Amino acid sequence: MTEISALLQEDRRFPPSERWRTTANITDPGIYDRALADPEGFWDRFARELEWIAPWDAVLEWNPPHARWFVGGKLNVSANCLDRHVRTARRNKAAIVWEGEPGDRRTLTYWDLFREVSAFANVLKSLGVKRGERVALYLPLVPELAVAMLACARIGAVHSVVFGGFSAESLRDRINDAQAVLLVTADGGYRRGQVVPLKQTADEALAGAPSIKNVIVVQRHAGAPIPVDITEGRDHWYHRLMQHAGSSCEPEAMDAEDMLYILYTSGTTGKPKGIVHTTGGYLVGTYATTKWVFDLKEDDVYWCTADIGWVTGHSYVVYGPLANGATVLMYEGAPDWPHKDRFWEMIDRHGVTVFYTAPTAIRAFMRWGTEWPAKRRLDTLRLLGSVGEPINPEAWIWYHLNIGRERCPIVDTWWQTETGMIMITPLPGVTSTKPGSATRAFPGVAAEIRNAKGERIETGGGLLALTKPWPAMLRGIYGDPDRYLTQYWSRWTDGAYFTGDGARRDEDGFFWLLGRVDDVLNVAGHRLGTMEVESALVDHPTVAEAAVVGRSHEIKGQAVAAFVTLKEGFKPSDALAEALKEHVVRKIGAIARPDQILFSADLPKTRSGKIMRRLLRDIAEGKALGDTSTLADPAVVARLKTQYEEKEG
Ligand code: PRX
Repeated sequence: MTEISALLQEDRRFPPSERWRTTANITDPGIYDRALADPEGFWDRFARELEWIAPWDAVLEWNPPHARWFVGGKLNVSANCLDRHVRTARRNKAAIVWEGEPGDRRTLTYWDLFREVSAFANVLKSLGVKRGERVALYLPLVPELAVAMLACARIGAVHSVVFGGFSAESLRDRINDAQAVLLVTADGGYRRGQVVPLKQTADEALAGAPSIKNVIVVQRHAGAPIPVDITEGRDHWYHRLMQHAGSSCEPEAMDAEDMLYILYTSGTTGKPKGIVHTTGGYLVGTYATTKWVFDLKEDDVYWCTADIGWVTGHSYVVYGPLANGATVLMYEGAPDWPHKDRFWEMIDRHGVTVFYTAPTAIRAFMRWGTEWPAKRRLDTLRLLGSVGEPINPEAWIWYHLNIGRERCPIVDTWWQTETGMIMITPLPGVTSTKPGSATRAFPGVAAEIRNAKGERIETGGGLLALTKPWPAMLRGIYGDPDRYLTQYWSRWTDGAYFTGDGARRDEDGFFWLLGRVDDVLNVAGHRLGTMEVESALVDHPTVAEAAVVGRSHEIKGQAVAAFVTLKEGFKPSDALAEALKEHVVRKIGAIARPDQILFSADLPKTRSGKIMRRLLRDIAEGKALGDTSTLADPAVVARLKTQYEEKEG
């Protein structure tokens, strides 16, 4: 086995093998220059591989910061993911191979999926859902989630998927913000052997969500129904409605710029923002990147482990792979259930060839030990991917050795909910990778580093900017055009997009992502706003003030650390700390649970009353304190530091 220490040197390179250089979907390094010279022509060629009801008049109309792609073109996303394939030999190919956590399995061919989606589209219509209306989806990772998304796309309704781990309150806020008219949920799902009672949580949310007229409930397991309350007239069982639904439904001709979906993500305020994606450009962007980054071939079995509740699941479990006619593996549950080799067992069982997961998962696998993957063959794998947070070189090398068995290229893909598609990534047949670097912008994408003055710098660290529009870019924040402008387009005056990420560019022009520079955390690959957690904390009757920062965490990348000042008359205790953590879980969801709560009589503030988070971060990271001279009371921070260190022991 290759020495890890030798591999850990950052200048190690992993060039594509001869086989990859000759057989990948894209093998020509000249593609970067050609795409740069004519980006519109570059995207136009991918668009032509898809099926359009009416052609476009122009590839792009760019009035910064408003883009229209494939102007005048008409198409339907579900027809591109289904109808296009059932007319060919792919008709009987597996589209979705699904495994539930308890071990139940289902396979839907393209033909099955086409029929199921058409039938559900008819169900939605029969309940009065109209083109342009919003439908909320709150489901476990079951095929019906993909079916519901594609059915919405088929009739021109806009879906808003809410991750099943979110709380009732988070679901309610998202439904209300989008004014959704219908909710699809399930009696429940399974996670680490436990039932997640989704319908019960949804009922709680629905008490404050009057826009919802109908609820469709999927029965997760016909053999083991989970008890639910059914509100007559509002709630309907999925399987009952489907019994009477016709299996043919003409796809709506959608404008390329019609809304396809809204997906909420955390930002720098207490309120999540509804990122808006549209139809034509989004499909072209996800189709193209799936084809070239994951190199999908007709016989691949492709597995992206993300939940569909996040953008990775939208773009790289559902739309990108299905537009490519791929076989997609979906798994409902946890990687360590019933044992820590569940993923590796599934890779062998289903013959997975392309595997895409997150660094937080890879670091958990490292902790669990090499004996788990070592028990499995994993010899069908040919390509590995990483997404969601920076991958540390050590995790990259571990992945390369223990999962890829030194045979599989690794694509570390940088992108965001807002970008809709992969933006910075290796191309497996072209790029020599370096562990820890996402390498280069995808052809046709323009990324650069800017210094504090906003100037482009060729090498070194700064802010990551995207300087050209791209087809899958967000078109706005639902109902909040001002926030769209201030959040993304006001940092620079030349029409460049501000990513919120810091990054470094090396001598080869490779990007090294360094994490967020704003008040957004990345906890186990999940995006979380510090302000959201702070709002949840101050909502508790005992809390006067709260400041939340991220601290490095070996597995999760970042963990939530909270500094809390109590109201008069309340005393700090371990029990109260626990109660506050639970309160955050109830308000937002388990992903937001603080790892640590430190009670303090004061928080470090400037003379103008602003909390100095930088100092709190230093304390949480156990670092030497930076400049404290602007503090109103410098003693506060020294006291906090001592208190923190005592608590950490
Ligand atoms: O900070 C970057 C990090 O995740 C953020 C986007 O989060 P979200 O919208 O939830 O989408 C995650 C899945 C695309 C980015 O601003 N991020 C994502 N991928 C990487 C990454 N950081 C470093 N390397 C990556 N490959």
